[in-house]
Amino acid sequence: MPLGSPLRVLAIANQKGGVGKTTTAINLGTALAAVGEKVLILDLDPQGNASTGVGIAEDARAVTSFDVLSGRSTIANASAPTLVPNLSIVPANADLVGLESEMMQDANHRPYRLRDAVAGLIAEQRARSNEVPYGYLLIDCPPSLNLLTLNAMTAAHAVLVPVQCEFFALEGISQLKSTIDQIKSTLNPMLEIQGVVLTMHDARTQLSREVASEVRNFFGAKVYETMIPRNVRVAEAPSHGKPILLYDYECPGSQAYIRLAHEIIERERQLRAA
Ligand SMILES: Nc1ncnc2c1ncn2[C@@H]1O[C@H](COP(=O)(O)OP(=O)(O)OP(=O)(O)O)[C@@H](O)[C@H]1O
Ligand SMILES: [Mg+2]
Repeated sequence: MPLGSPLRVLAIANQKGGVGKTTTAINLGTALAAVGEKVLILDLDPQGNASTGVGIAEDARAVTSFDVLSGRSTIANASAPTLVPNLSIVPANADLVGLESEMMQDANHRPYRLRDAVAGLIAEQRARSNEVPYGYLLIDCPPSLNLLTLNAMTAAHAVLVPVQCEFFALEGISQLKSTIDQIKSTLNPMLEIQGVVLTMHDARTQLSREVASEVRNFFGAKVYETMIPRNVRVAEAPSHGKPILLYDYECPGSQAYIRLAHEIIERERQLRAA
């Protein structure tokens, strides 16, 4: 990405399903917005859960991330406001499933579709100097290391990896790490892991504690101090089309996502200073 742009692009990825990628995209996005950042979520999962979770009904998704990746729309044109001030989203729907076959025609350019679109967004924001530019673009990846995730990692500055505090938590992690390394050595030399967030942690169970320490041993300082607790309010919120911070600000899940937002901002500040 061009130097001087404030935009940080974070791909929220783990090919393991149900680990909290979408919950983190929605609620970290909301928490970052709540502490003063301007945030855009890009839903890159044909399931469209992030879109639903911020209140964009399926029939309201006029322009989607499919249109962006297929070159039919710019990111700015595809982004829709949410209930949260300073938080917008590029929604997704099942159209994305057809993208891989459509992209087959264009083998050389395939992994760069999203990166080019992000470069377009940065250029557009520069030209509109009267508007506050986005500080964070969070990409909610599908549970697969497919072409969509490849596009996300090629466009991103860094990857944020949610790991669920469950048995088999580290399963697939070495494959994820080697995919990141491979992309770093070919498509995107600046790619790094921003951090690893432990999700659905239950301090009462020994299993959660064991998994947390195993993940900390494996990833070291990359693991954020903040752990997202298992909290039923967090699971309920999407069915109301609301991020947890709007649904129940006081609950432990909301407070954890706010702490995570501060930790991420601090880590970004250190990276920029380095
Ligand atoms: N902190 C939490 N407390 C309780 N439930 C949670 C929490 N985080 C996520 N969940 C629930 O766990 C399930 C999986 O979460 P989520 O959809 O965020 O995972 P994902 O990695 O995006 O899944 P997929 O791989 O299908 O995209 C959802 O039902 C969600 O509501
Ligand atoms: Mg998801």
